[in-house]
Amino acid sequence: MAKIRKAVFPVAGLGTRFLPATKASPKEMLPVVDKPLIQYAAEEAEAGGATELVFITGRHKRSIEDHFDKAYELEAELENDGKTKLLEIVQTILPPRVSCIYLRQPEALGLGHAVLCAKPVVGNEPFAILLADDLIRNDHKGVVEQMAEVHERTGSSVLSVQEVPHNETAKYGIVETEKQSDGMLRVVSIVEKPAPEVAPSNLAVVGRYLLTSTIFDKIEQTAPGAGGEIQLTDAIAALLKEETVIAHPFEGKRYDCGSKEGYLEATVEYALLHPELGESFRAYLKELEY
Ligand code: G1P
Repeated sequence: MAKIRKAVFPVAGLGTRFLPATKASPKEMLPVVDKPLIQYAAEEAEAGGATELVFITGRHKRSIEDHFDKAYELEAELENDGKTKLLEIVQTILPPRVSCIYLRQPEALGLGHAVLCAKPVVGNEPFAILLADDLIRNDHKGVVEQMAEVHERTGSSVLSVQEVPHNETAKYGIVETEKQSDGMLRVVSIVEKPAPEVAPSNLAVVGRYLLTSTIFDKIEQTAPGAGGEIQLTDAIAALLKEETVIAHPFEGKRYDCGSKEGYLEATVEYALLHPELGESFRAYLKELEY
């Protein structure tokens, strides 16, 4: 079964929920403690086997390219100052075998459209999609690696899913599933952001997908849907009529860093787990009196 070599990162969104912080800087560059969200996602994809990272960018996203590029001046200065630890941090953001490809999505026409922009680079292979504002912590096995294992066993597309409160279905793609004889959950239907009264379940798709390249044909045939956008969810609905799509209840803790609350939760928990900051930060939190 094909291994995953390519991961697509749709990063062209405006990030309006974090304005004014995201007025001139992409939301994917917001740091959780000391690393931008996009780096967590890139590391997860790389740990899952991806060697080609495909970023679908838009205006004002230059800093993402700069982040993964070599920084000659900075490196020279750190070297001169003997700051070897920091030098190593900036030089090892990604291993040398990983290459980054940047494609521009000229208009924000929806997640499905953003993914379609990757077609010329992805070609005929299964590939992962990561939405960087879903930060998922698993210190042993990242979600891309988990999905790659399911794909290697089945050859199928895989959607990472999580139960959400019933009153939140309108924030997600929601799936209806059927348990197969091998214990895996086959997706029977999927709908984008249904109201709780009509949602087929409370099993939500989070920002991690592993899809076969058939999805590109399906996106090409997808008309604008919810919010007038070309939805990836609608293309997946067409895909599952032809191919098996598996829902994978991932292992890990997800932080919705597209919301201020989720972002703050991630910041606090990653700070508490940080090898250098954890202890003193815990002591600080305990002393807070509000
Ligand atoms: C997108 C997808 C949605 C999915 C969600 C996961 O929505 O359209 O199906 O459940 O990501 O985070 P967005 O959060 O971009 O509105």
